[in-house]
Amino acid sequence: MNKHLPPAGHSAGQAAMPQNAALLPAPAALQNDTFLRACWGLPTDYTPVWLMRQAGRHLPEYRALRAQAGSFMALATHPQLAAEATVQPLHRYPLDAAIVFSDILTVPDAMGLGLSFRQGEGPHFAHPVRHEADVARLAVPDMQRLRYVFDAVRCARQALHGRVPLIGFAGSPWTLACYMVEGGASSDYATIKTLLYTRPDLLHRLLAVNADSVAAYLNAQIEAGAQAVMLFDSWGGVLADGAFQTFSLAYTARVLQQLRRTDADGVAVPRIVFTKGGGQWLPAMRMLDCNVLGVDWTVNLAAARAALSANDGRPAQSLQGNLDPAVLRTTPAVIHQEVQRALHAFGTPASGDAHSAQRSCQHTPHLGHGIHQHTPPENVLALVQAVHQQSRQLR
Ligand code: CP3
Repeated sequence: MNKHLPPAGHSAGQAAMPQNAALLPAPAALQNDTFLRACWGLPTDYTPVWLMRQAGRHLPEYRALRAQAGSFMALATHPQLAAEATVQPLHRYPLDAAIVFSDILTVPDAMGLGLSFRQGEGPHFAHPVRHEADVARLAVPDMQRLRYVFDAVRCARQALHGRVPLIGFAGSPWTLACYMVEGGASSDYATIKTLLYTRPDLLHRLLAVNADSVAAYLNAQIEAGAQAVMLFDSWGGVLADGAFQTFSLAYTARVLQQLRRTDADGVAVPRIVFTKGGGQWLPAMRMLDCNVLGVDWTVNLAAARAALSANDGRPAQSLQGNLDPAVLRTTPAVIHQEVQRALHAFGTPASGDAHSAQRSCQHTPHLGHGIHQHTPPENVLALVQAVHQQSRQLR
């Protein structure tokens, strides 16, 4: 292990700090604003693309960096190395955005739940939230405990040199609650659903603390330099109709209400909300105060576009997603076909030159889940190139 790095075990309170993250010079001006334009519903020359887990185990250089750090959390809590991981995929693929290298579970870790990642098992909390007393103890964590994330945002902005915008992110209150109550990944969400149906009052209190924590966390990322923010509601889709609106959507709205609208320089910061398995609730999500809705592969893009462009007095929202990550494990020929399907399903993007200020629903192809670790990098390159080439032809 590199002697300059923190030990593999971590505690957010003792996270490694770069000596100078707060003193870094102002980041360079943005060279590629295609993704931000699409978020705002503005016409673009081509369709922008970025991918969830674009930095991660499918890249050999990522696996080397993680080995150098000692563990995933040692990497994520080391701002310079996290910035390096953020930029790694940009060296291989002409992506239109970067996402800060971190995890949604940093927030419950900072609440004292004791996060670790077990090889082959995924995340694990040493102190899950199960009883009334556990819920009563929860509070919005001191953001100093998450300073390593904000420092990683600053370092990543420097490392990007303005090449593409940097996305900051957090888990939705409901998705974080799933991990906090289950203690890790779950196949049936039996523990949290039992809590939901038997003690909704406890779950509401937990979700309120999560919402206020996530809002403070995203605001600090925006202050540190995140140019867009995304909420991952990865498990919203496991809820029953009605329960989704009460236990997921309402708390996503509570986060959005509290978010800063502009960065430290007064530049507006778009908000993206992704609910895996949430396609049927798009009309309800249309009411969220956000600019982009993420959808998975189960959604019909033409119908989604129509729903988000409804003439209901609200500004059009853009769409992100619709590609099935399994496609990335096939061949470049199949990837080309699937990109064509998604681009055609969305339809011709609203015309207007790429400098016009006319707003409408735009599309950013994206995966409905993270890139699988066994994905060949050449397939990811084929995907990014296919989106760029084919979408230019559509305009
Ligand atoms: O490139 C990026 O997208 C940024 C990094 C990122 C990670 N996690 C890094 C990571 C992002 C955006 C996340 C979000 C995240 N984390 C979500 C929401 C997105 C989704 O997948 O639905 C969720 C549910 C988590 C929780 C989480 N973190 C799980 C379930 C796991 C284990 C699963 C796995 O793939 O191993 C993680 C670990 C994790 N987070 C890894 C990475 C690169 C793999 C850890 C490793 O390197 O060993």
